[in-house]
Amino acid sequence: MGSRHYGSVVVVWLVLVVFGGVYGYPVEDLVVRLPGQPKVEFKQFGGYIDVDEKNGRSLFYYFVEGYGDADKLPLALWLNGGPGCSSIGGGAFTELGPFFPRGDGRGLRINHKSWNKASNLLFVESPAGVGWSYSNTSSDYKCGDASTAQDMHIFLMKWFEKYPEHKNKEFFLTGESYAGHYIPQLADVLLQHNEHSTDFKFNIKGVAIGNPLLNLDRDAPAVYEYFWSHGMISDEIFLTITNECDFDDYTFSNPHNVSVKCNEFIEKANEIVGEYINNYDVILDVCYPALVEQELRLRKMATKISVGVDVCMTYERRFYFNLPEVQKALHANRTNLPYSWSMCSSVLDYSDTDGNINILPILRRIMQHKIPVWIFSGDQDSVVPLLGSRTLVRELAHDMKLKTTVPYGVWFYKGQVGGWQIEYGNILTFATVRGAAHMVPYAQPSRALRLFRSFVSGQRLPNTTYPPIDD
Ligand SMILES: *[C@@H]1O[C@H](CO)[C@@H](O)[C@H](O)[C@H]1NC(C)=O
Ligand SMILES: *[C@@H]1O[C@H](CO)[C@@H](O)[C@H](O)[C@H]1NC(C)=O
Ligand SMILES: *[C@@H]1O[C@H](CO)[C@@H](O)[C@H](O)[C@H]1NC(C)=O
Ligand SMILES: *[C@@H]1O[C@H](CO)[C@@H](O)[C@H](O)[C@H]1NC(C)=O
Repeated sequence: MGSRHYGSVVVVWLVLVVFGGVYGYPVEDLVVRLPGQPKVEFKQFGGYIDVDEKNGRSLFYYFVEGYGDADKLPLALWLNGGPGCSSIGGGAFTELGPFFPRGDGRGLRINHKSWNKASNLLFVESPAGVGWSYSNTSSDYKCGDASTAQDMHIFLMKWFEKYPEHKNKEFFLTGESYAGHYIPQLADVLLQHNEHSTDFKFNIKGVAIGNPLLNLDRDAPAVYEYFWSHGMISDEIFLTITNECDFDDYTFSNPHNVSVKCNEFIEKANEIVGEYINNYDVILDVCYPALVEQELRLRKMATKISVGVDVCMTYERRFYFNLPEVQKALHANRTNLPYSWSMCSSVLDYSDTDGNINILPILRRIMQHKIPVWIFSGDQDSVVPLLGSRTLVRELAHDMKLKTTVPYGVWFYKGQVGGWQIEYGNILTFATVRGAAHMVPYAQPSRALRLFRSFVSGQRLPNTTYPPIDD
């Protein structure tokens, strides 16, 4: 009895040491409980890291520990794209994080397929001007790929100082869409840091990007091919685009540096596809924002389920994030920004030429450091469709003289096809996720978690299933 009592005193003391900051949990950033949040067993943190004190530039982050023994799990950074869209609104609260907004926008529900079952998760609003990240110097909002990567480098250095127990963990860099630019360029900067640093080095173990913008020469035409293959535009329009458009020098910004006729038909195609389709997942129904606003005002559930997904989730999330008590609980918006929270920034003046950068040479450099690269693709997305990504990955493998190490074929999860995959040189993986959106974990949470688990454990996706289909 006596010794057992003594044991519990020791345990209490150790906990205090951890929380007192000796091992570096910043108590001030601990998020005790979000409004309307179901109870959970893992810790979450929210706060700011200043990246430029002179200008007053500061990035907001949200960090969730993994389920169970968080100490044994790796660390993954997730960035959304845009450029200018929120990783916390997107990744953390509608895709792969531990909570989704509740239908009435006033609380949260558990995401049972959260990626924090496989890893600790760090979400950052990047660059400053996105979400709750800001600068006191408005000219900082004029930025681009290079400055974004530099700021994230400073952010991570300081973040690891704040969370030293994560410093030596296996570190995975992940994101989607325009993070096809952010993540590889960040990896590049961090690897350069490692080369020059005699002190701390980032322990990067993998890069994974979903429906990523990599190079417009393939990613741009893929949009129209996708429209056409899904019956969304006519043969005539597709044939004209195929014949008239030279996508080799296509530019990110309008008018795209293509012929007048090409531009005309691209516009025609977009017109026919129309506004009543979710381009990010062409089989989902659309949500009507005016109806949602009314429902939320009346404290009703705005939830609209299509193919198993709440297609109004983004509006419920916007409502939730604009509640002052939510911002307070997250330690967000500490300078009382003069605008409301929105998924994509309205203050940012992001370079409109950086979108033209070809990312493939950067992926090549990353792999030269023996770091695995995964390109995954939700196959219902028309914005950065698998058609472009698959070709770019093959061309990259060819340029690097990588041999096929897993032939193109299905991968399985729970006895069903999770998607298709191919692997090159034991280092470069392309995998589709069947039935998934541009935001892969949003429409296919189970398959997405399966893919993420394989990725962070350094394993291939399973390519066999049991039992056999014909007995
Ligand atoms: C930005 O301005 C606010 C209000 O003037 C000030 O409190 C803060 O310290 C400044 N710097 C940063 C990094 O927020
Ligand atoms: C526009 O396309 C032409 C070739 O058609 C190319 O020479 C030029 O560099 C392109 N401009 C940009 C900004 O990419
Ligand atoms: C920040 O807080 C102010 C009120 O203090 C609010 O009006 C504004 O909408 C908030 N902005 C964001 C981005 O959360
Ligand atoms: C399954 O993957 C292994 C490598 O992990 C590969 O050798 C094999 O050919 C694949 N099988 C099929 C049917 O694709």
